[in-house]
Amino acid sequence: MNTYELIDLSLQRFSAKEVAQALGVDPKTVKRWQVRETEPKPYIADAIRQRLLPFGEPPTGEGKFRFIDLFAGIGGIRTAFEKQGGRCVFTSEWDPYAVKTYKANFHDGPGHTFATDITKVHEADVPDHDVLLAGFPCQPFSIAGVSKKNALGRPHGFSDKTQGTLFFDVARIIAEKKPRAFLLENVKNLMSHDKGRTFSTIIDVLQNELGYQVRHKVINGKHFGPQHRERIIIVGFREPNDFDIHKVELPSFDEAPKMGAVLHSQDGTEAADSPYIEGPKGKVLDKYTLSDKLWEYLQNYAAKHRDKGNGFGFGLVNSESTCRTLSARYYKDGSEILISQGLKKNPRRLTPRECARLMGFDENFRIPVSDTRAYKQFGNSVVVPVISEVARIMMPYLMNDASKRPRKTVVKKAKT
Ligand SMILES: C[S@@+](CC[C@H](N)C(=O)[O-])C[C@H]1O[C@@H](n2cnc3c(N)ncnc32)[C@H](O)[C@@H]1O
Repeated sequence: MNTYELIDLSLQRFSAKEVAQALGVDPKTVKRWQVRETEPKPYIADAIRQRLLPFGEPPTGEGKFRFIDLFAGIGGIRTAFEKQGGRCVFTSEWDPYAVKTYKANFHDGPGHTFATDITKVHEADVPDHDVLLAGFPCQPFSIAGVSKKNALGRPHGFSDKTQGTLFFDVARIIAEKKPRAFLLENVKNLMSHDKGRTFSTIIDVLQNELGYQVRHKVINGKHFGPQHRERIIIVGFREPNDFDIHKVELPSFDEAPKMGAVLHSQDGTEAADSPYIEGPKGKVLDKYTLSDKLWEYLQNYAAKHRDKGNGFGFGLVNSESTCRTLSARYYKDGSEILISQGLKKNPRRLTPRECARLMGFDENFRIPVSDTRAYKQFGNSVVVPVISEVARIMMPYLMNDASKRPRKTVVKKAKT
């Protein structure tokens, strides 16, 4: 790729202002390059590759298996399946800021399609794939309508039961494309929502209507890192097999790294990581330290609830701790995970880089968005090693020839 092509590619992902900022030039200069009015200096090509585009060239091979990434967020689930040799052929994510982070980290060539709103994609237009991945939002849905339809003796297939929910979109793609396997991820509360009825509907649809062998398990991210984060993982296989999700190998909580593994060292041993740390020692920027006003508010709030016998309040941690669940609202006050800075200084929030580490993303994961957006994105994401472990035990079944056979279409006989 020549420098102009690299500039065009960057401008498909970022605004001229952002490209200019990353390259340390004026936005007008970028615009002049774009219309080929001036020629960029030779170093610009390398700078673009290093600062703006995902690492390496887009994958060209087939991969061991093909997968699709629905409700992709910033690609936490994808990361785990790519590590197993899978090739992503389709992504759907509608939040433009999540897309920005996703595209800064994953390089996709011509064999890949990117869609925004999945509800607008016809299932027949989704490319063929072996594995469907979806961390679908836990959008509450009621199945009250079903019992009414039951009473009226009307049919109530999955389209009736889940229409208008995002799970419906997952189900209609599975019904049409019949992937060999799927992995769905959600909050643990999905199991208790609406007295368990939501979860029963989901399992019923996957198992009895779509015909998959379904297994599920709640896994705590605390087995792999210093964060309590319980998520339900649902795995389905089209062909019956002896896959057992309980065979995941989960290191004991005691063995898992503590917050010290995530926090900036602030002793000069860490490589520069603008805009989170600065100076020769790599000190965390002051903006992450809580203002006196906010710290006082959080302390008062916690005291009030303590007096009432409630456990609410902030979660103060140090390098030896394990923290609470990072939520998508961490940007608001950061109260669930505050880093102690000793008695003389107010605690601070995690930096987005520390959030990336907490969720198990690689050190070179790019964060091209504001702190607020980044906190939301990491708070919505997965603990990557949890998904990696499930993907690892799914692999022998995905490589099994029997499961590669296309599913026979069952033609129902018309009633005579
Ligand atoms: C719980 S997050 C999944 C995060 C993802 N697993 C990750 O590792 O980052 C759900 C994502 O679904 C996206 N989303 C919600 N509704 C959508 C829709 N109709 N079409 C596409 N994406 C949607 C949200 O923007 C959000 O990023």
